[in-house]
This record gives sequence, C-alpha cells and structure tokens, in this order.
Amino acid sequence: MADFRQRVGSFSVIFGMFWLISMVMKVNGIGANWGTQCSHPLSPDIVVRLLRENGIQKVKLFDADYTTLHALGNTGIEVMVGIPNDMLSTLASSSKAADRWVSENVTEHVNKNKVNIRYVAVGNEPFLATYNGSFLKTTFPALQNIQNALVKARLSNRVKVTVPSNADVYASPSTMPSGGDFRDDIHGYMTQIVKFLSDNGAPFTVNIYPFISLYTDANFPVEYAFFDGNATPLTDGGTSYFNMFDANYDTLVWALQKNGFANMPIIVGEIGWPTDGDINANVKYAQRFNQGFMTRTANGKGTPMRPGPIDAYLFSLIDEDQKSIQPGSFERHWGIFTFDGQPKYQFNLGTTNLGTLVKAKGLTYEERQWCVLKPSIKLDDSRLAPSVSYACARADCTSLGYGSSCGDLDARGNISYAYNSYYQINDQDEEACKFEGLGAITKSDPSRDTCRFPVMIVPYESGSDQVFHLRGIRSCLVSVIILFLTMF
Ligand SMILES: *[C@@H]1O[C@H](CO)[C@@H](O)[C@H](O)[C@H]1NC(C)=O
Ligand SMILES: *[C@@H]1O[C@H](CO)[C@@H](O)[C@H](O)[C@H]1NC(C)=O
Ligand SMILES: *[C@@H]1O[C@H](CO)[C@@H](O)[C@H](O)[C@H]1NC(C)=O
Repeated sequence: MADFRQRVGSFSVIFGMFWLISMVMKVNGIGANWGTQCSHPLSPDIVVRLLRENGIQKVKLFDADYTTLHALGNTGIEVMVGIPNDMLSTLASSSKAADRWVSENVTEHVNKNKVNIRYVAVGNEPFLATYNGSFLKTTFPALQNIQNALVKARLSNRVKVTVPSNADVYASPSTMPSGGDFRDDIHGYMTQIVKFLSDNGAPFTVNIYPFISLYTDANFPVEYAFFDGNATPLTDGGTSYFNMFDANYDTLVWALQKNGFANMPIIVGEIGWPTDGDINANVKYAQRFNQGFMTRTANGKGTPMRPGPIDAYLFSLIDEDQKSIQPGSFERHWGIFTFDGQPKYQFNLGTTNLGTLVKAKGLTYEERQWCVLKPSIKLDDSRLAPSVSYACARADCTSLGYGSSCGDLDARGNISYAYNSYYQINDQDEEACKFEGLGAITKSDPSRDTCRFPVMIVPYESGSDQVFHLRGIRSCLVSVIILFLTMF
C-alpha cells in the first residue's frame, strides 16, 4: 500500500512539474498592448477574436474598461489591467477608493466573468522625466493601497501589482550595462518600490524603445537598434552587446542586482516599432525589428545577463489615431495592425500555422467615398491654409510629414489628405466635406503607392444594439407609465 501511495505521490510530483513547466511556457507566450485612443475603435469582441486567432495569449490594457474586460471573459487570455496616472492621487489618499477600484475592476471580472486578470499596472510610466515628478508622491502609496485591496479580496496570490516604467528610471553613467543603476534623482524612491514589489512576489515592468533612441539621437547607430544588425558591438567586460535592447535590459538587470534584487522577475511592458510619422518609422524597419524580437523570443533566447525566455508585450496591437502627438507624429502608428485590424506587414508570431498575422473579421466599413480638394480651386486661394489647419487639428495628418507614407504628395494631395481625414473621422458627414465650398466628395480612391486615404469603420456603439435596445425599452416603459399617471 505504502509503495503504491509513494508511486502515486511521485506521479503527482512529475505531473505537477509538467503542469508548472506548461504554465511557465504559457506565461512566456507573446503579449500585446491593447490601447483604445481611437476615433473608431474596433468592438472588443472583434479584438478578442483577433487576439485568439493570432495566438496572442496575454494582453495589457491601459485602463479597466468594462466592455473590454467583459469580452476577455472565459477566454483564458492573461490580462494586465491598468490604472491611468490621473487616478493615482485618489488611490494614494484613500484605501477605500483602492478597495472599490479592485472590487469593481478586478474581483467582479475575475469571479463573475472568469477574466484571467494576472496583473494590475499601477500608473503608466509615472516617473517619466517629462512629468517633472508629478506622480512621485502618489505612485507608491497607490501601489500599496491596491496591493492591500488585493489581499483583502483574497486575490493577491494570482493577481500581482507592478508599475510599468520607462527605461529612463535607470541609467549607466559609463554607458556600460554593468554601470547600471536607478536614476540619481529617484534612486531612493525606486529601491523602495522595488523592495515592495519583491516582498509581494511582483515583477518589475519596463518599456524599452530602440526606435525612440534613434528618433532622439541623430548619432545613434541605426544597425544597433536591430537584432540582426551588424553594428559594432559594445564590449562590457567580457560581454559583447550587439543590439540596444540587450544592453538596455541588462542595464536594468545590473541596477536591480546592485540594489539587492538579483532575482526580480522582469516584464517588458512595451516593445515595438512604429510604421509611419517619421523617416525611420516605416514598414520595413518595423517588420525587421518586431520579427527580430519575436524570433529570439520564440527561441527562448534572453540577454547575456538573463539567458532565459523574455516575458514581453508588443506595442502595439492596433493604431490609435487619437494619441497625443506631442512626442512625435509616429505615436499614432505603433500597431502591428491598422486601426481596422489589417496586418501591416508579414509578421510571424510563431503561434499560428499560417506563419503570418490573421486579419480582423466582422467589420462594417463606411461607404467607399472620399473628400478631396475640388479640382477647380486654385492653389493661391487664401482659404486653403486655414482649412487645412482646421482639419489637421481635429483629424490625423501624421502621415504627411517628411519621410512618412504620404510625404510625397503634392500640395493638392496634401490638402485632399487633410480634408479626407476630417471627413472620415466625422463618419462621412456631408457637412465635414464643405470647407467653405473647397471640398468635394469623390467615389474614386485617391490612395496611391504607400499613401492610403483611409475609409473608417462604422462606430461599433451603433452596431451593437443590445444595450441600446434595452435602454430604449426601459425609457419607453417609463414614458408609458408617466403618460398613464398623468391621464388619471
Ligand atoms: C474602474 O476603472 C474604470 C476605468 O479605468 C474607472 O473609470 C472607474 O472609476 C474604476 N472604478 C472604481 C470604483 O474606481
Ligand atoms: C515640466 O517642466 C517643464 C519646464 O519647467 C514644463 O515646460 C512642463 O510643462 C512640465 N511638465 C509637466 C507635465 O508638468
Ligand atoms: C505637405 O504637408 C506636409 C506636412 O504638413 C509638409 O511638410 C509638406 O511640405 C507639404 N507638401 C507640399 C507639397 O505642400
């Protein structure tokens, strides 16, 4: 009997190990950031289907939108749900507010709807140098309050807190990874946070962007941005670094190690390359960078300091035409898919038999018609410049700049592009193509070469009519009752 039990025991140990290994492998599948700053967002159901059909097993959100989380229910997809920076001060000053946040945005979804929430991202790059320390006081207390709320909700074992940080929280004065440490001005603060994460078995999340280095530094060696580049390697002691990602990631590993957290798990919260809005933001480079990253991820090859698999979320799933372009015009073009879920380039995630991305299904487009500059208008018309400024301020002209996908348009093409963008963003409202008589609607597609004049999708709110109907029925009932009451 004892023998048998022992055998069952070792069977379950082996089984348990298999399970553990398969969990670890699952956790390390590729993730994607799902942002929603779009004038015409895809319906969450369409995006969830897109994720599943592409074998994307993890998703990172920037807030806790109810319909989005609901659509992720019962899918098994791992979710990192986000708390926007503007909520940090409330959550920092009130544990009640944190309890409510967890209850409404985590517990409810995990219990009622089987959403596989695994992380809460407290803030989004709150220590960015450009924020001038605005969120320094609030991030840590908010993190503590959310962690406590998760403990109270008995979820702290499966849901971990983290703070997605920009790589500018650490630096290396010597530019060698081994010189890495947290930024001087926030050193004490960072070690406090990292200790808290470590005490609670939570990971450090960092966003790494070789593209931004290239964008901001004219002397940055282009080849060093890529995984297959032939850049002159950086030699750090006995280690050679052939690409910026490895060197940057290892700078963080050194910073953590130096402060006593050598084994802290690291998540790459954002990694990617934009396809438009700058001379270096194009399909060719994006394909090269993302495929390079994916291939090494699929091979489970880490960095010199951390040779294991890398846990990462691609930035981004789809383009977002309402993102702020203060950092640059490229901001609206990070998607591996266009705003309507169409793959931009050949990209093998290693997750499907197809060997490339699967496009979104079930879309409804607006009519195939465009708004352009009326051919009879002369280019010296003084109304043109203000009309273009008006359109571009409200729509999206980020593809018009030098080296961008529509950078080769002539003056007429430029104006038409601006008009069309405004017209489409306004759902082809006739009024939105007037421009004091300068605009005209056409059925012939002005797109050419790389320059695409998009037609938008029908906004999904009006397409998904269930909620709408319910509301309609309810208000109808109320008016009948009121009518009935007033009659007697
Ligand atoms: C839940 O998250 C949403 C979206 O981020 C937010 O608007 C809402 O205030 C949160 N709920 C609570 C109770 O804080
Ligand atoms: C940070 O400070 C700079 C210079 O003082 C200022 O221009 C900028 O608006 C500030 N940014 C924020 C987010 O407060
Ligand atoms: C088109 O617009 C872009 C961006 O506003 C500008 O840089 C470019 O010079 C314009 N081209 C022409 C031919 O007007």
